[in-house]
Amino acid sequence: MELLCIEGGRPLSGSVKIQGAKNSVLPLLAATLLGRGVSVLKNCPRLTDVDASLAILEHLGCETGWDGDAVWVDATSLTACAIPDALMRAMRSSVIFLGPILGRLGQAVMSYPGGCELGPRPIDLHLDALRTLGADIQEGAEGLRCRARTLRQGDIHLPLPSVGATENAMLAAVAAPGVTVIRGAAQEPEIVELQTFLRSMGAQVRGAGTSTVVIQGGQALHGGEIAVMGDRIVCATYLCGCAAAGGEVELTGVDPRHLSTVTALLAQSGCDVRSGPDGVRMRRDPGRPLQAVARVHTAPYPGFPTDAQAPLMAALCTAQGTSVFVENMFASRYRHIDELIRMGAHIRTEGRVAVVTGVERLHAAQVEAHDLRGGAALAVAALGAEGESAIAGLHHIRRGYAKLDEDLTALGARANILEKK
Ligand code: EPZ
Repeated sequence: MELLCIEGGRPLSGSVKIQGAKNSVLPLLAATLLGRGVSVLKNCPRLTDVDASLAILEHLGCETGWDGDAVWVDATSLTACAIPDALMRAMRSSVIFLGPILGRLGQAVMSYPGGCELGPRPIDLHLDALRTLGADIQEGAEGLRCRARTLRQGDIHLPLPSVGATENAMLAAVAAPGVTVIRGAAQEPEIVELQTFLRSMGAQVRGAGTSTVVIQGGQALHGGEIAVMGDRIVCATYLCGCAAAGGEVELTGVDPRHLSTVTALLAQSGCDVRSGPDGVRMRRDPGRPLQAVARVHTAPYPGFPTDAQAPLMAALCTAQGTSVFVENMFASRYRHIDELIRMGAHIRTEGRVAVVTGVERLHAAQVEAHDLRGGAALAVAALGAEGESAIAGLHHIRRGYAKLDEDLTALGARANILEKK
């Protein structure tokens, strides 16, 4: 079993270029299916979720490959419309392929993506949106069978700003002749990047980043090209690591506006945060403890991102005072709390609410990641803890962090991956 071992109590000092964004590159890879040609995604992070997406694309008939940090996908001729269960299970968000497969081939078969560590992950909003565009979707025990002789334009109303449902609707609507309007759309930066990429393929899309996205669909699309944006959650994670350990870090290759709610709370807790055109610098005096943050409520963008909840909580475990978290996005996104308590944290939960009472110091422990961001939060906590911690469950972390150990080492931490017999 592999363990990420981190020696805590060392202030950070260093600079890192932030990897490409997982939550952008996954829908972009699905979008390549819509182009009759070669698409190129530069600054693509090497993640297991990216590997799983490439396996699905190849199963559908694409050719894919790497060229340095760029991934290319040749979707000129597709040979299948069904995603086997094993590939569906390899990645929670594989439902994002439904819209583009339908849009390109007029039919799609896939099993349910299934729940995950964060609790049930319904896809009703995805299916409602596709049905509005004329898809006939049969839901059976073995999964989804979808047909759409031709998709048609539609007026889609999302009752909540689901990121995935917004993306799936966009990816199907570009193939539907006429004007489709998506109201109540998610506004995440990753949605804007998807619009940019679709435009590079010849699609007519506007309004991404607002609650109303308009697609003029029906054109045949060619391959596109884009440089993937920096990962705002990875950046937030490393800033929380610096908040926990103290020191000074410089993180480049990311738009600081994409994580302004996170940097605002870190500033409120006593960190000195300076945003620049290409990233963020942050300093926290190791001699001055963090201050608690009274309320951290997760919300759809531009609210505080649910993906940064666990890393920030880990940093605030040693803040003076009491911080109150409310996780509004997912039913089960506190699985890191028991592990933080093993490190000496004082946290009480009541449903969606977690009350963090700061302690002087955490101590090292053997802990286990139970999901992607919860695992990253354990690394944040270990950076500030006394002694050497060992984190198991690295397969969760590798879904979203291309080189966590290397990046933390570059930021001055002692972080190594060891094989434990
Ligand atoms: C995306 O997930 C991200 N994943 C998540 O990041 C992120 O936490 C989430 O958006 C919220 O920002 C990717 O982009 C690959 P949603 P997604 O649909 O699209 C409910 C990470 O750690 N809902 O916006 O699945 C749902 O249950 C991951 O990087 C329905 O009820 O999130 C949730 O409560 C975790 N029906 C809420 O909406 C649906 O059909 C928001 O989910 C779809 C969603």
